[in-house]
Amino acid sequence: MEDIDKINQEINSSKDLSELNSLYKKYLGRKGDITLALRGIAELPEEEKRIQAPKLQSLKRDVEEEISKRSEELGVSHAEDMLQEEWLDVSVPGKKVEAGHLHPLTQIQRDVSEIFTSLGFEIVEGPEIETEKYNFDALNIPQDHPSRDIWDTFWLSEPKNEKLKEKNKKLLLRTHTSPVQIRYMEKHQPPLRIIVPGRVFRHEASDASHDIQFYQVEGLMVDKDISVANLKAVINEFLKKLFGEDVKIRLRPSYFPFVEPGFEVDMSCVNCDAKGCSVCSQSGWLEMLGAGMVHPNVFKEIGYNPANLALSGAEGWQGFAFGVGLDRIAMMKYKIDDIRLFYSGDLRFLKQF
Ligand code: FA5
Repeated sequence: MEDIDKINQEINSSKDLSELNSLYKKYLGRKGDITLALRGIAELPEEEKRIQAPKLQSLKRDVEEEISKRSEELGVSHAEDMLQEEWLDVSVPGKKVEAGHLHPLTQIQRDVSEIFTSLGFEIVEGPEIETEKYNFDALNIPQDHPSRDIWDTFWLSEPKNEKLKEKNKKLLLRTHTSPVQIRYMEKHQPPLRIIVPGRVFRHEASDASHDIQFYQVEGLMVDKDISVANLKAVINEFLKKLFGEDVKIRLRPSYFPFVEPGFEVDMSCVNCDAKGCSVCSQSGWLEMLGAGMVHPNVFKEIGYNPANLALSGAEGWQGFAFGVGLDRIAMMKYKIDDIRLFYSGDLRFLKQF
């Protein structure tokens, strides 16, 4: 057996806890040198036993003590190593988490929806791919109307579906949100108040105020005694809530086949307070939406009884509808001078909202 000085030297030169553990096993483990020597004492003659036993016990205590001392030293340095490794400078500025935000068109769509919800309107959606029936026929748009032209509408190629082919249902990307008026009225009875936000498509040259895709919000209100006064009041309230109490509106006669009478609704220019500027072409007025009283032919098409044609005593319905370009509204609200920026995906633009 090594003497105590050698063992101590060995213990003190151990470099880490696992090396120290091996030394523990070597001397004090179940089959360790000191353990075996202590066990062997029983075999020794009495005389020898009396001399060796205290010596070995004292050696065992010394080794235990030395190992525990070294273990503490190595333990501290182990903890220091760990600390070094896991050290964290809490004063260093954190990594910035980039949070996304809503697209300006989505923001404006939500604002518009909130205003109409507060006026008791329900929000309804419809398909972006439409049939000729809903986009044109049921809306009293005649066969020879220019909007049906191949130059104004994106027509889809012949349907592969045999049933659609049989029914001769030509498909197209909807050119306005008005078809959802028909879809909704087919399934619901008046009184009703809905708005329909959604994307529409037109086959036309794009410029600063026109794109081939844009967003509209359709409005429809049908009840017994709805008149142009209701139309004016609702649109007035909508534009005031969106642009401020000072805005004024005016109605000009216009033509849309699915309304009679039809109007173009102008709003006083918010860019120059109606004094006249380049945005309003010096007129002080901005064209904001198309509107009118629902045409009796549209009501007849979906099986409602139009008020003006109702037999005496029978229930008849009247209603107004309007369609507003959301992009143009967002452009006015945020003072954006090119509609194409909305669809550019340019972060320099989008990050400003
Ligand atoms: C219509 O689409 C009608 N469906 C609106 C309507 C509904 C009238 C209900 C009566 C009753 P118009 O084609 O004018 O109408 O389009 C409505 C609005 O969409 C315009 O006032 C304009 O704000 C916007 N708009 C039209 N074309 C474009 C375009 N190419 N790019 C961006 N916005 C457009």
